[in-house]
Amino acid sequence: MNTHIDEAKRILVTNDRGGYTVPTDRLYPFQWNWDSAFVAMGFALYDTDRAYRELERLVEGQWADGMIPHIVFHQPSDTYFPGPSVWRTKHTIPTSGITQPPVFVIALRKLHEAAGNKDRTLPLYEAALKWHRWWYSARDPEGTGLVALLHPWESGSDNSPAWDVALARVPTTTDTPVVRKDTGHVNAEMRPRDEDYRRFIHLVDTYAACGWDPARQWEKAPFKIAEIQTTAILLKAGEDLEYLARLFGRTEDAAEIATLNERTRQAILVQWRPALSRFVSRDLISGEDVEAATQAGFIPLLSLDLDRQIADALVDEMKAWSEGLKVAFPTTKPGIAGWEPKRYWRGPAWAIINWLLIDGLKRNGHTEAAEELRRSTVSAIEAEGFAEYFDPITGEGCGGLGFSWTAAAYMWLM
Ligand code: DGY
Repeated sequence: MNTHIDEAKRILVTNDRGGYTVPTDRLYPFQWNWDSAFVAMGFALYDTDRAYRELERLVEGQWADGMIPHIVFHQPSDTYFPGPSVWRTKHTIPTSGITQPPVFVIALRKLHEAAGNKDRTLPLYEAALKWHRWWYSARDPEGTGLVALLHPWESGSDNSPAWDVALARVPTTTDTPVVRKDTGHVNAEMRPRDEDYRRFIHLVDTYAACGWDPARQWEKAPFKIAEIQTTAILLKAGEDLEYLARLFGRTEDAAEIATLNERTRQAILVQWRPALSRFVSRDLISGEDVEAATQAGFIPLLSLDLDRQIADALVDEMKAWSEGLKVAFPTTKPGIAGWEPKRYWRGPAWAIINWLLIDGLKRNGHTEAAEELRRSTVSAIEAEGFAEYFDPITGEGCGGLGFSWTAAAYMWLM
């Protein structure tokens, strides 16, 4: 028996708060959207009932307009900022007012394949479809095929160098006092800077003043990025949603989703930049490409069957970034300005990003590169434990410890 798997399961038990799993104790004491989706895939391997509960509890936070928020505050905690009083949203169960990448549907398909429980899958499918429609209406009102993020937290890659240029335009003034709690749990050098937090909260204040109405937010947003990682994940979610629609005989839904998928597929391909060997996001305020060298540019591997030439170029570039590292894949290209191997999304390797990349490499026929990345991820975890993320140079486990999605990723990758 693999004792690391036992340990991974123990972490999920420890982080259980009643049918949902916190990412880690104290630092993240609520239910986070994409964390729960990864965790549900972990549970799907050995406890499908618990996997369904994870997704069902997340859907308790779904808004009437279809959005599934990035945090559901099921019960109070004073170890996290910003809590419900900062978000000022109106949902019955307090939630944040922004969303996160829709890994939910990817998890739902895997769970349905493992459990085959139509009675439990169907309501979650309905919730996912509502959310899918919300993405296209609220975050792509002009029908471009790419969805936009209005807050860096929506990407899950909070302080990525990808946001540096766009975020610098966001004022540091806030109506809400910024009283950080995260740096009381984790070394400040591993977290976003105070200035980032002031901008993060400026955005929350701005959207709260719009009453969290998507059209007003779209109009007032000082940060608006048509983002390649989230859009690529949305396309994979769209593929899985279409699969479930067909399985359940929902032919009209399937046709609607297929049209959206095709639009998004074409829009992602337009974002390919051969000179960079990556896909890029677009800053909708400046109209410019986001050229920062981050992991996001490789995530389209997950949801497109790419031309050989493009897939090979992506893999060569990934190899170049990974050369000489103890742990791949770095979330920022090593050595560039802005690269910080221990600071959250500015360089470290994350097991869940690797998981997406591994699936994408396999999909595109690069099984050897996928296997190499799988081994790198698994040995980092076996050496350092279930840390939030890893310093790619030293291999050190960083950020929060006993982390739920790292535990789920380990089980999935074994
Ligand atoms: C945080 O608080 O660090 C989260 O990533 C925001 O979702």
